[in-house]
Amino acid sequence: MSQSIKKIVAGNWKMFQTPSQAEKLSKELLSLLNSAYNCAILLCPPYVSLDRVASIIRGSPIGLGAQDLHWEEQSARTGKISGDMLADIGVSHVILGHSEQRSYFHEDDLSVNKKIKAALGCKLRPIICVGESLEQREKGKVEETISKQLNGALKDIPKEKILQCVIAYEPIWAIGTGKTASPEQAQEVHSFIRKSIAKICDSSQVLPMPILYGGSVKGENAASLFACPDINGALVGGASLKAREFSAIVEAARDSGKK
Ligand code: PGA
Repeated sequence: MSQSIKKIVAGNWKMFQTPSQAEKLSKELLSLLNSAYNCAILLCPPYVSLDRVASIIRGSPIGLGAQDLHWEEQSARTGKISGDMLADIGVSHVILGHSEQRSYFHEDDLSVNKKIKAALGCKLRPIICVGESLEQREKGKVEETISKQLNGALKDIPKEKILQCVIAYEPIWAIGTGKTASPEQAQEVHSFIRKSIAKICDSSQVLPMPILYGGSVKGENAASLFACPDINGALVGGASLKAREFSAIVEAARDSGKK
């Protein structure tokens, strides 16, 4: 499956980098990644740096993602950002349902669903994060957890819209911990996600939806993850803040496409 899906490597900068630091980092990345790649590269800085990063990467192979949005259109929602504001500054993707949003900011499957619909309505591609906790894994509840998150996130979304989404499998126990899921563990869940999406879309065929892995991806483990048939790229946190490390991950994605 993976051979027919273009890989995506997305850097989730989380709440790191002031706008001046973001400017420096994106210039560094641009100098390392300014050639043609057969994979998509995305930088997802904090809101306040989006515009500045957009002006630096314009015309390059690097694209722009945001880390969240609010589901309402422009309205009285102090502190929030709407989808059309993101689209207007050149954002193409938006990370939704990240486990940090779920655990620190009361994100649930219903709000993720509303945000996905709002993003699609503004022609933004949602990167929908799902993943289990260590406790859920130890209790044998990985598939149950992922199913619930996927069904909740994609409720009442038509198939052709679902196919515009990207899924990121991010086991919570692997995020920021240095403990990456093994390629076998990740592949098993990615294959389950792909089958679940086909079921949700009522399709008897395997669907070409990009499914990214996230959780302590680094230059040194990226190639073995990208070699798995259902892993179509990575959502990278910590390592995306180091230009050389991030470009090593992009190179691993590019090289995996050559085989
Ligand atoms: P990490 O974060 O690469 O630092 O584990 C991944 C993420 O949270 O998206």
